[in-house]
Amino acid sequence: MNISIPKADSRYSEEIFQNPSTQEAASTENQVFITDSYEETFEFGMILGKTLGKGSVVALKGTLGSGKTCLCAGICRALGVTAPVTSPTYTIVHEYEGVFPVYHIDAYRLSGAEDFENAAGGEILSGDGVCLIEWGERLSECLPDDAVHVEITVLDGGKREIKTAGRIGISGGGRVRLQAEN
Ligand SMILES: Nc1ncnc2c1ncn2[C@@H]1O[C@H](COP(=O)(O)OP(=O)(O)OP(=O)(O)O)[C@@H](O)[C@H]1O
Ligand SMILES: [Mg+2]
Repeated sequence: MNISIPKADSRYSEEIFQNPSTQEAASTENQVFITDSYEETFEFGMILGKTLGKGSVVALKGTLGSGKTCLCAGICRALGVTAPVTSPTYTIVHEYEGVFPVYHIDAYRLSGAEDFENAAGGEILSGDGVCLIEWGERLSECLPDDAVHVEITVLDGGKREIKTAGRIGISGGGRVRLQAEN
């Protein structure tokens, strides 16, 4: 999979999401992608981000330092967020302004669904924003059926295996390779 992405363009996600042919082309099959660097994982996040729309929920699973925040940063960029995306480990939720509001949640320190509710989790999940949840498996009972699931596994030498499950607007799987922008 060769990837060439334009810089953040706030119209991009709206266009893709509103294009029915793109939605029909969305794959629901589980897929596996391999990235070789932080930048490739970020770019993969951008690709995924362009397929998301209002109300999308992405649950990310992966060990400490596997690249969840990196991937979220790529998603945010694709959704028109210009602010730096940092880990919400201590604040639990970061809200960003993009083409939609983007809520970036780190469930690592939450004890479970009730804790999440107390952090306004229910309102966030049922709202119009895009919701990205690191350690999403800790909140599995709260997640909508149509959530996109992303699991990152650390391989040798900086490689990451990224498995996706749920309806996503990209297909093909395989290696993610960066391509120079024109
Ligand atoms: N292929 C890769 N993709 C993403 N990150 C990589 C890759 N190879 C090495 N890295 C490094 O792994 C780290 C990933 O950090 P990141 O904060 O995104 O992980 P995380 O899963 O969010 O961690 P945490 O569980 O603490 O929230 C960074 O230091 C990054 O440079
Ligand atoms: Mg993180």
